Amino acid sequence: MSEDTTFHHGNAPETAPIVQMKNIEKHFGNIIALAGVSFDVRPGECHCLLGDNGAGKSTFIKTMSGVHKPTKGEILFEGTPMDFSNPRDAMEAGIATVFQDLAMIPLMSVTRNFFMGREPTKGNGLARRFDIETANEVCVSEMRKMGINLRGPDQAVGTLSGGERQTVAIARAVYFGAKVLILDEPTSALGVRQTSNVLATIDRVRKQGIGVVFISHNVRHALAVGDRFTVLNRGKTLGTARRGEISPEELQDLMAGGQEMAQLEGSLGGTV
Ligand SMILES: Nc1ncnc2c1ncn2[C@@H]1O[C@H](COP(=O)(O)OP(=O)(O)OP(=O)(O)O)[C@@H](O)[C@H]1O
Ligand SMILES: [Mg+2]
Repeated sequence: MSEDTTFHHGNAPETAPIVQMKNIEKHFGNIIALAGVSFDVRPGECHCLLGDNGAGKSTFIKTMSGVHKPTKGEILFEGTPMDFSNPRDAMEAGIATVFQDLAMIPLMSVTRNFFMGREPTKGNGLARRFDIETANEVCVSEMRKMGINLRGPDQAVGTLSGGERQTVAIARAVYFGAKVLILDEPTSALGVRQTSNVLATIDRVRKQGIGVVFISHNVRHALAVGDRFTVLNRGKTLGTARRGEISPEELQDLMAGGQEMAQLEGSLGGTV
């Protein structure tokens, strides 16, 4: 990606976090996936969660979105202790997650995937039925707002590109009123152009006042849109840095855990 894909960041005054995660631990039997991680997300910011494979990123956001219960630690939602017992609770509170293994049905239309169980209806009582016209209109117009012109609302999701599919998931979360949008590696499987489209979408979402949690193991993708950066390394974090406080090299180093990176560079006889 070239440098001109970097987005401009406002100097928004500090606002109260929407979600606050305090000293979260998660154990799976004797595997300690998270060993006390704190993190928060504020309205209108993009907070990046970085880390290498297996660092605990997905586990962390799964505790934020009600999939896992933390073994220890506290989650506050808009200042009050939150005890989500399932993803539906989190979703109803306004925490929308686009998981790494995107939950979509490839053979179904974009519209069907967009609504998935939340379809608009028309008529009452026994005459109540799926309002396909409204659904199609909403879907096409919400996708257009995100910069994607569908061939038609009945286009199958399976015929969209990876970036466009990510955008369907993002557009639907925004449409259904997300306050926090969690994106688990939305750019990891994408090429340069698709990546910059998804990053532009993240920027657009953030500017609407939604708090974005962007998970990535790509420092450049994170630096293009991030306001704050938290690096996970084997279930631990060394804290959170603000944009401008940390260089790409420092972030990269924190991710790999300094020493391991030096060894890798040494063994390859150059820079990685
Ligand atoms: N359900 C589970 N049961 C047991 N161990 C798990 C479970 N989920 C995750 N782990 C372990 O927790 C650790 C962190 O995994 P996690 O998926 O959170 O990493 P990640 O940072 O998302 O990695 P990646 O970049 O590969 O997606 C790993 O050692 C993983 O094997
Ligand atoms: Mg993961």
